[in-house]
Parts: sequence; structure tokens; C-alpha cells
Amino acid sequence: MIVGIIGSGGREHSICYKIKSSKKVNKIYCFPGNAGTSEIAENIDIGDEDFKKIKDFCLKKKIDLLIIGPEKPLVKGIVDYFSDTNINVFGPNKVASQLEGSKIFTKKLCEENDIPTAKFKILTKLEETKIFLENSKFPLVIKADGLASGKGVYICKKFSEAIKASEEIFGGKFGTADSILIEEFLEGEEMSYFIVSDGNEFKFFGTAQDHKRVGEGDSGKNTGGMGCYSPSRLFNKELDKKIISKIIKPTLNAINKIGSNYLGFLYVGLMIKNNEPYLVEFNVRMGDPECQTLLPLLNTDLLEIIMSCCLKKLKNQKIEFIKKKSICVVLCSNGYPDKYVKNIKIDNLRHIVTKKNENIFHAGTKKENGDIYAIGGRVLNFVSTSNNLKETRNNIFNLIKKLNWKNGFYRKDIGYKVID
Ligand code: AMP
Ligand code: GLY
Repeated sequence: MIVGIIGSGGREHSICYKIKSSKKVNKIYCFPGNAGTSEIAENIDIGDEDFKKIKDFCLKKKIDLLIIGPEKPLVKGIVDYFSDTNINVFGPNKVASQLEGSKIFTKKLCEENDIPTAKFKILTKLEETKIFLENSKFPLVIKADGLASGKGVYICKKFSEAIKASEEIFGGKFGTADSILIEEFLEGEEMSYFIVSDGNEFKFFGTAQDHKRVGEGDSGKNTGGMGCYSPSRLFNKELDKKIISKIIKPTLNAINKIGSNYLGFLYVGLMIKNNEPYLVEFNVRMGDPECQTLLPLLNTDLLEIIMSCCLKKLKNQKIEFIKKKSICVVLCSNGYPDKYVKNIKIDNLRHIVTKKNENIFHAGTKKENGDIYAIGGRVLNFVSTSNNLKETRNNIFNLIKKLNWKNGFYRKDIGYKVID
């Protein structure tokens, strides 16, 4: 088979690495990929939103399967754009992608289907928002409706912060805003839960716990994700049953009711309180760095799983994960998530030898004349699996020390709630 993968992050490198290990794969193209994918696939310099160029290329090269990594092309409708071809496209269509593309769409869907989530209010004018806030209790959460790369969410402890957030959102900081979402603040601990679906059936695809804040002890600014461990410490059978019956099934049924279906990975962002799940958000893709953390534990051919979804045969497809633990630590450019310097050479990468249970996935890197340069905020993902999370994390620290890259930093406390 000839496979195309859209995206350029650590998530896509880990998908590329797993797909490469399938005996059925002859060739992989990445649009546009990174230095890591260029070692195992052919990078094609076409951006993830240039649908026409991607389609023309796929037809010309007779690509059989196109896997979509990030949310933007999904929300913009790349799956629908390929519907007049015979190419198998893995990811949800435009209607189903609203689960991530519009927080208001998802909140209304939750309300109509009794899905547990924070109480909310949708407002369309700044003046009425101010009046609503004057009569609200704090803390509360204010969100811009559309995609904002994780930045359109404000946790407001007091009235003045909420006013500032509303002004920024209505002022167009995250694109034209016709409405704003105000949510009750949920107490509890977060967990990322994943399924894969073929439009009819769905199957469990693991859990993880992400560390989104830049600083140790989960402090400081929000980032794309500084690291992650799997499985989540919160996960248990009873909770799993509740997540499936109260959140997953009603959501997939609701998507069917509006005349669509959900094909692809679904990332369910949850708040867990007293072993009860509350939906915080859906993402219509794998998480990053959750994907890099989970895939090394997957013991089934990823290509087989993805193709069984495209062919609507997921029901009879096995999905097995090895019963080990995994940690991913993200090495970032100094300054991230604010300003950082680009195009810094990473010298020692080639000299680092990874063991079977270790992976270094690339995120913001590029290769030029045989050298590797950091071009993004999140640069490399160090992943290790074992029976013991502390040992796993120490393995990672040793690898990062060997790299000895002066321009980067990483959190040394990933998984601190489960590691002494
Ligand atoms: P979202 O992009 O909706 O996932 O929000 C980003 C982050 O904000 C989440 O991962 C949570 O940490 C936090 N968050 C969002 N909504 C709520 C809420 N209603 N209560 C508490 N925390 C929230
Ligand atoms: N790790 C968070 C995300 O992928 O959105």
C-alpha cells in the first residue's frame, strides 16, 4: 500500500513510525512532515490546508490511504474534499469535526443528549455578557467558539479577568466572534480517553494524562503539551463503563441523528470527580503528545486498525496494547510558549542510540544538508516504556542528557502524581 500522512508534529512522526512497521506498506509520503519522518518516509512540501495540491499529488502517486493528523484540515473538510476519489481517508468528515471545531456545537449536543458536562451559557453581545458576568459566581471559564490552538480558553477567578477575556474574544483575538461560551468551573482531575471508530462501531484506544502547563507542578502558561504518561492513574472499569454509556454512545448516536457518522480517532477530554466523568472537550484526532505516548504500547498493526475503520470492519478487528507504562517528555526551545529562536542546530541527535523500548519522535525539526535544526517550540519527544514509571522517566532523562542540547528545556516532573 501507498500511504499519505498529513501533519508535521510528534504525533505524525509516531503514526509514520508505526505505519512503517506494517508489512503491507510499500511507501509513505508526509505532507509536509519533519526531520524525523524524512528518515522513514518521503516528505512532500505541501501544507496541510492546500487540499487541491494534496489531492492532485495523491491521485498522481496512487496513494491508497490518507491519514489526517491535525484538526485544522479535518475541521475545514478535507475528508469531504476527497469524497469523489477512491482514496481511503482516515478522519472524521466536516459535520462530525464540529465536535472540535465548534465548542458551542458540542455544548448544545451535550444539552440535547444529557451528556454530563459543565453548565454553560452562550452569549452573542459584549454588553449582555457583562450583565451576565455581574450576576455570576467565580471562578468560571470563558471560551472562544472556534479552533484557537488551545489558546481561546480563560479560567477566570474574578470579574475583572472575565471582562478582559470577553473583550478579547469579541474584539476578534481568535477570529470574528459571533458568540462566546461561559462555563461553570469543574473541579476534579483531567484524563484523556481515546476511541477509534468506523462510523458504526467504536473501540477503546487507551488513556493518558497530559501536562499542559509549561512549569513544574503544572504551573505557568498553557502549551501544546509538555509531556504525558499512560495509562491514566484515574482509569478503572467502572469509570470506563460510565464514559461509554454517558458520553461516547450518546455522542456517536447524536452524530448519526444529524445524518452523519464519525470515522477516525476521537479524543475525549474529561474531568473526573468522585469517579464520575464530565466532558471538557472533544478533539477529532489523536492527542499530541498522547499519541506518541500510546502508540509504542500498541501491539496490533496500526495500518490494519486504520484500514478496518475505512472499510467499516472495525467490529472484528483486534486492538491490543502491551500491559506496560509509557512516558513522553517534550523537549522545547528555550522561551516556549512565548518567543523562541528558530533554526538552531541539534548536534548530537545522530549519536544517540535508542533501545527497543525507547523512541525519539521529532516535532518542530527540519533537515538541511544532513543536519537537523529546531524550527518549532516543541522540538523532540522522548518516549520510554517499562513496567515502572520512575525507571521509564529516568531512561528518558539519560537520553536527554546525552543529547546535551543547550537551547532547550523540559519538565522534570512529568507523571509526578504517580511517581514518588
Ligand atoms: P479546552 O480547550 O476546552 O479543553 O480547555 C483547555 C483546558 O482548560 C482544559 O484542558 C482544562 O484544563 C481547562 N478547562 C476547560 N474547561 C473547563 C471547565 N469547565 N472547568 C475547569 N477547567 C476547564
Ligand atoms: N495534548 C493536548 C492536545 O493534543 O490537544
